[in-house]
Amino acid sequence: MKPLNKVLLNKDVSINPIWIMRQAGRYLPEFRQIRKKNPNFINLCLNETLSSEITLQPLKRYDLDAAIIFSDILMLPYGLGQKVEFKKNFGPILGEFDLNLIKKLNENSFTEKIYNVYKAIEKVSNHIILKNKNSIGFIGAPWTLLVYIINQQSPKKELKKNFFEDNTKIKKILSVINKFLKIHVKNQIESGANVIQIFDSWAGLLEEKDLEKYIYAPTFSLVRYIKSLNTPVICFPRQIKNYKKFCDIVNPDAVNIDYDVDPKVISKTIQIPIQGGLDPKILLTDKENLKKEALKYLDIFKDHPYIFNLGHGVLPETDPNMVDYLVKTVKNY
Ligand code: CP3
Repeated sequence: MKPLNKVLLNKDVSINPIWIMRQAGRYLPEFRQIRKKNPNFINLCLNETLSSEITLQPLKRYDLDAAIIFSDILMLPYGLGQKVEFKKNFGPILGEFDLNLIKKLNENSFTEKIYNVYKAIEKVSNHIILKNKNSIGFIGAPWTLLVYIINQQSPKKELKKNFFEDNTKIKKILSVINKFLKIHVKNQIESGANVIQIFDSWAGLLEEKDLEKYIYAPTFSLVRYIKSLNTPVICFPRQIKNYKKFCDIVNPDAVNIDYDVDPKVISKTIQIPIQGGLDPKILLTDKENLKKEALKYLDIFKDHPYIFNLGHGVLPETDPNMVDYLVKTVKNY
């Protein structure tokens, strides 16, 4: 059995597999070289030769236990016909979301538009390097996608003033998101992805009273659907105030924690497998400190099914040697 599956399905506490969010990306010189020649990020994601090569880059350097496909959560609104661009040093910029266009969109036209993402997953999943490793597909959670679709850019600290104004529109968009996320997940699994991670990067923006409508209910529906396809699912409701309540209601196979929560409290209160936690900024310090902080997580989760990862994506300014040191520290534990 592959190491991630041992933890996710068998609740094995004797091993600590490791993969890193954003492991394929800007901190790697070999990625930057490809990126320099490909100024359009969406087109790069849709170039299955390059996106599969980028996905495998970190696995050629480090003894990681999974590949995460090089794509983006915003391929969903792109597939739905919304304009999506990435501006340097700013992040994503989206066009208006046109509900009239969606009426004409069916499953096949969506799948066709981002078909090369699935071809890349197939290429990666069939690669010899993946023999004893998982191939992770992913989606943005409905809430985080709603944020990008309506806000049209990263919200940083807050949402547009009139974000919640048009409740009918929000309801319609959420239902479109849910429908096509299921199609997107199914396509990824059929192409070879054997674990799915759901990124809810903006879960922390919501107040308690809105969690049921925007997070618990739609995420639970997806988790149940992914499980019905016999595929383990990991949720990352970043900065949600109450991880325990999230797990009790949504019940994924594992939950990724951020670096603001106390891992000791998590290990005592949550029974399902845990992933992640380490602050990516620790990788910008020195090896001694990195080892100390990594061992902290490994010690706390010694008797808990635990997949090593970070509390958010690896930062672009990270020295690849520090990632090497981290992977070795975890593997030698
Ligand atoms: O290695 C991997 O993890 C695979 C690929 C991956 C990317 N984005 C590639 C990417 C994954 C899993 C994502 C998820 C994603 N995308 C999230 C959820 C995780 C998180 O970081 O909270 C979000 C919110 C997005 C939306 C997004 N895409 C933003 C906000 C940005 C710009 C800022 C940033 O962090 O880079 C992107 C662009 C993006 N997605 C890049 C990469 C490698 C950078 C593109 C570049 O080279 O300019």
